[in-house]
Amino acid sequence: MIIAIDGPAGSGKSTLGRMLARALNLLYIDTGSMYRAVALATIDAALDPADNDAVTDLAQRVDMDLEGDPDSLRVWLAGRDVTERIRDDDITEMSSIVSTIPGVRRAMVARQRELGKRGAVMNGRDIGTVVFPDADIKFFLDAVADERAERRFKEDLLVNPEATLAQTLAEITERDLRDTTRSDSPLKIAEDAIVIDSTGLSIQEVFERMMEHVHRNH
Ligand code: DC
Repeated sequence: MIIAIDGPAGSGKSTLGRMLARALNLLYIDTGSMYRAVALATIDAALDPADNDAVTDLAQRVDMDLEGDPDSLRVWLAGRDVTERIRDDDITEMSSIVSTIPGVRRAMVARQRELGKRGAVMNGRDIGTVVFPDADIKFFLDAVADERAERRFKEDLLVNPEATLAQTLAEITERDLRDTTRSDSPLKIAEDAIVIDSTGLSIQEVFERMMEHVHRNH
């Protein structure tokens, strides 16, 4: 079974994706962390992110690995554990930039199809539209930008005491704009997706709604 979860930053994809994977005993694959690993490799190699050919070439050969349970997923890049590093601000921004490059997307989509072929809960921006258009269930999670920024801000504060809500909101708004307007595989709602607006809902409430759909359909 493939469950696709797409949606903008801060919409709850990772929390809910983990919960669903655990409840259904499926692999959990966070595709955002793959674009983040490419972003880190781009920075480490001092490549110009505008050099599409060089970044595509890097994405095709990059040695990355996702491993572990849904709750303790680790991301490895060339044998180095980069799980924490890829959450830094510079990587967040760079991942949104390198993910606009068609060659980078092709390389990641091929890996994602391979990783998910035995069934998975997979989250990202284009899972229900491009990676697995025949997914068994497609969710599109959303919430108003202010609330998404507030959720993300609480996480940001844990690692950066100088973070401000205004700054987090500005970053989320900029990233959403880039992710929804890029020409290759922009974030959009698949025709057959179940849209859940989590504004004002608790995590548990969203989880229960998602599980209802899973049980109704399977
Ligand atoms: O889900 P995330 O915030 O960790 O993703 C980081 C960036 O990667 C996001 O700004 C857009 C890109 N991304 C993508 O283009 N397609 C995906 N399937 C997942 C992420």
